[in-house]
Amino acid sequence: MQPFSLLLLIASLACALPAKSVEHKLLTADNFSKTIATGYWFVEHFSPFCPHCRAFGPTWDALVEDYAGSSVNFAQVDCVVNGDLCDENGVTGYPEMQLYRAGALQVTFEGGRSYERVMLFIEEHTGVSKPSYSVPPPELPEHDLQTLHNERNPHGEVLALTPESFAGIVADGDVFVKFFAPWCGHCKKLAPIWEKLAKGLQHRVAVAEVNCEDYKSLCSSEGVTGFPMLFFYPASGKKTEYSGSRRVEAMKDWAERAVRPVFLELDYADLVQVVKDNSALYIAFHAPGVSLPPSLTQAARPLLGSPPLFISSAPELFTHFALPVTSDFHLIALKDGDTSAAAQLRFSAQTSVEDLSKWLQTHRLPLAMEISEGSFQEVMNAESRPLVVLVSVTASGVERDQVVETVRGLAAQWRRTNATQYTPAHGTRQVVFAWMDQERWTSWLKSMYGIKGPAQVVIVDHSRLVYFDTTRTGSHLTLDDASIFTALGDAMKGTLSVRHSENIVERLARSINNKLLAIERMVSDHPWATLSFFALGILVVFWVIRRLLMDEDYTHSYKSGKDARLD
Ligand SMILES: *[C@@H]1O[C@H](CO)[C@@H](O)[C@H](O)[C@H]1NC(C)=O
Ligand SMILES: *[C@@H]1O[C@H](CO)[C@@H](O)[C@H](O)[C@H]1NC(C)=O
Repeated sequence: MQPFSLLLLIASLACALPAKSVEHKLLTADNFSKTIATGYWFVEHFSPFCPHCRAFGPTWDALVEDYAGSSVNFAQVDCVVNGDLCDENGVTGYPEMQLYRAGALQVTFEGGRSYERVMLFIEEHTGVSKPSYSVPPPELPEHDLQTLHNERNPHGEVLALTPESFAGIVADGDVFVKFFAPWCGHCKKLAPIWEKLAKGLQHRVAVAEVNCEDYKSLCSSEGVTGFPMLFFYPASGKKTEYSGSRRVEAMKDWAERAVRPVFLELDYADLVQVVKDNSALYIAFHAPGVSLPPSLTQAARPLLGSPPLFISSAPELFTHFALPVTSDFHLIALKDGDTSAAAQLRFSAQTSVEDLSKWLQTHRLPLAMEISEGSFQEVMNAESRPLVVLVSVTASGVERDQVVETVRGLAAQWRRTNATQYTPAHGTRQVVFAWMDQERWTSWLKSMYGIKGPAQVVIVDHSRLVYFDTTRTGSHLTLDDASIFTALGDAMKGTLSVRHSENIVERLARSINNKLLAIERMVSDHPWATLSFFALGILVVFWVIRRLLMDEDYTHSYKSGKDARLD
């Protein structure tokens, strides 16, 4: 494994740790000249075994971080792996820093390696001074937003967007945008969190907001249907709605995954570890020397790193999964800590993006998992519209462990005996076995699914907002294969009686709300046609009702709990 891919792998495995996420560029003989061909490059030649290099590490990190987005680029060459390149560059000791301009060596850094000295050296030879963040401007003039954004959130602040600045920022990509209305309660709650997020994503991901009270038509053209609504706009590809947890850490992790490279390289030695660390993941196989087709990159990008996509041409991995080494490619989905393939696809450079994308979406979820605020939307609103066997568990203790074990066991049994006849390829529904903390979500589980204690089972069909809690004979579902597997079969056939996950009042409110939103949109799209007394009347009523009743997040259907929200 190349050092850079190892670094990526470690970064991905350690994403739960508050690791410094400075992005290092490691160059090899293959891409050195090509990479440094334009602009200024400050290159450190180092050896992982040299104590001076290690001592200089934190200073280097700080420099890379502080100059991110400036016109001076930073890169490293590992001289243990690239001895010849270091010889060619005339390196005589470690660490040795050289400044290149348009591919040509300008000058070698000498003397003490303090942050200050390096900074002055760079300024002297490039004219670029260290970007200073000490006095951030309070309000950014319109015309500065574009240039500023090229540096991806240099000040760690939320950018307030207007319809004019919006297009430019989104075109640059890697920006997380909050659409809000000043009067909405959940928006107010999110505001300080959003500021913390901007701070946490400094230099990496732009964090912005749009006031939908001021810019209605921008919000409706972006498909905003409730407040607050969070969209991530990647550097290329379509925007994605973020609907996970609204804790800073969760949003930060998610955004960091989203801007990570699409592919992570995998070696055989790391297989067990990555399978342990990811409840679902993909591996794309290519024969040595044959590169993966761009269609896979396009299909994988919208996943935004969850689940991660690894690539490999390691012979041991081909052997492990019994794959033939051909000019065709293979995709494998691994789930639930199992190192044997849960699904497999052979594809070629001609396979369409749509087909690849469909396959990736279909195999995105593990078979058994815990549902909490972060994963609720991901599971329930998955494109594959799974049926979810939902089991309540206690917060901790032996009892919880036993129930979770049972659920996992049922998932494994389903996979062995029934899953093949219920794979989406056969036109039927995917099944996910999940457990949820009943103590934490007491009132939510009760009002949503009538669950009143631990170890209760329902089968949820969230795409239709219904659930099943009895078998065809009318007895309550119990935590065993006979009860659950039969009910799953009946639910798929549509012969089981359903219950609605929302109560009547909520469904009514929702449908009224949808209608009012549609009217509001019509008004802003066709102002003259609808600028009548009638429409104005409705608008007035709408605003009054909304202010009275809807001062909360109404995008999600799971808000029925009195004291619990799943975000
Ligand atoms: C240079 O090549 C190495 C090895 O293939 C790779 O890990 C690294 O990402 C490349 N660096 C750049 C800046 O392209
Ligand atoms: C699952 O498989 C078992 C054993 O093969 C079978 O008895 C049962 O009917 C199957 N259930 C469904 C829903 O297909």
